[in-house]
Amino acid sequence: MSNERITIFDTTLRDGEQCPGASMNLREKLEVARQLARLKVDVIEAGFPVISDGDFTAVQTIAREIKGPRIAGLARCVARDIDAAGAAVKPAGKRGRIHVFLATSKIHREFKLGKAQDEIIRLAVEGVKRARGFVQDVEFSPEDASRTEPDFLVEVCRAVVRAGATTVNIPDTVGWAVPEEYGALIRHLHENVDEFRKGRAVISVHCHNDLGLAVANSLAAVRNGARQVECTVNGIGERAGNAALEEIVMALRTRAEVFRGFDCGVNTREIVKSSRLVSRMSGLVVQRSKAIVGENAFAHSSGIHQDGILKKRETYEIMNPRHVGWGATELPLTKHSGRAAVSARLKHLGFKMTDAEVQAIFSRFKEIGDKKKFVYDDDLRTLVEGHITEVPETWSLEYLNVTSGNQTVPTATVRLRRAGSAEAETDAGTGDGPVDAALKAIDRLTKIRGKLIDYALRAVSQGKDAMGEVTMKADFGTGDLVTGKGASTDVIEASARAYLNAVNRFLSESRPRASAARQRPPQP
Ligand code: KIV
Ligand code: ZN
Repeated sequence: MSNERITIFDTTLRDGEQCPGASMNLREKLEVARQLARLKVDVIEAGFPVISDGDFTAVQTIAREIKGPRIAGLARCVARDIDAAGAAVKPAGKRGRIHVFLATSKIHREFKLGKAQDEIIRLAVEGVKRARGFVQDVEFSPEDASRTEPDFLVEVCRAVVRAGATTVNIPDTVGWAVPEEYGALIRHLHENVDEFRKGRAVISVHCHNDLGLAVANSLAAVRNGARQVECTVNGIGERAGNAALEEIVMALRTRAEVFRGFDCGVNTREIVKSSRLVSRMSGLVVQRSKAIVGENAFAHSSGIHQDGILKKRETYEIMNPRHVGWGATELPLTKHSGRAAVSARLKHLGFKMTDAEVQAIFSRFKEIGDKKKFVYDDDLRTLVEGHITEVPETWSLEYLNVTSGNQTVPTATVRLRRAGSAEAETDAGTGDGPVDAALKAIDRLTKIRGKLIDYALRAVSQGKDAMGEVTMKADFGTGDLVTGKGASTDVIEASARAYLNAVNRFLSESRPRASAARQRPPQP
């Protein structure tokens, strides 16, 4: 059995972040990048540096701070893109990668670019050569490769590899491919481009999930010569998303005999933690029945299944949940636990925090501990993640009272304090339900009208007193979706906190976000 290494190229922070409403700020991206390093992915595509100052700074900061994985920046085959990507990945030194792309399919050549085949090859070669002026590690992507004429694709691959590309990615940009066909395309390239056969350049794959086939296509490609897979945590990404990292990795591990011993360096025990963090930072809630990381992925409800599991786990479980990080349940903390116990548990959960950060978490822990009997690891994670996603608190919640019932008009009284103001302000609102009433009262106080676009509530831990975590997306009239998150043992309070978090985020980020969106070059 061969034991060939598959390179895991994570694009959560680039293609994943292209998912509408998933944009993250610098602190959130850095936290995700730290977790990806703990997960031991091989490459982190940290962003598209030319797109905005924010993306440039994020790639540069990640390149400077994250040790271990290679750090890639995306660029079109355009001088200013490549120069921006080169400057952004520079702090990573030899671990820096530039990923240049240019569409090659007939439809993109004719309708999007207005360029003939020879012109495409010329631009691709120029782009790769320019990128090689900055780094040794250059990846080229012929965008919409799966709809490109296979023989033209061979020509493109040969030309870019000869120009210095060390990896050639074959994107299924629009999720068009099916496994047999995509596998055959990869085999065709492997057989017809000498450099691939001789191992001088690596074939990568990058599959979108429009037909729900992204993971199946990626795995078919591996069986036919691909040695790098591009994927995202939780499968987030443009439209229907990208191939899900956790599914690729666990398929390779669990069905090793089918994948002829191909493996990767991912530390699977960090998978669930990575999934939670990405969900929290991107505001994209993971569907309960999602493979590997959904809350039901290892839950057995039917009596026959439970009986089987008790007799022998493997009757109904093909993977051990602990191997992907579903935890051993720890003894919960209580309101009597001291700072040292909380600090030790945070360390155990993998959070590296300063004394001031531990103190901030400890204060919130005490508030929660007063309201519920046990504080579980998941509660603590939620508090830490809430701290990371904090934005400057222009408005903070001081008081909330709601009356509601099937015979009453739901009414909320809210008291907010504006940062720096000596006096708090109070107002009331009515609405279709208690959450709506609370949000309307907040609108009256902040004088910002938001439209709720998406709302999700989940119980963070176990028991009737479980903390509820609300994730919502609101539009404050710009068309940009702003994510807000809040947690409390009271779901109305969690909703009000989440909405206020979105308002504060809008106030601190709306201007740069709106102008970045206007300047943005077309996204791949
Ligand atoms: O889907 C796509 O084609 C891309 C490329 C930039 C690799 O994201
Ligand atoms: Zn993509």
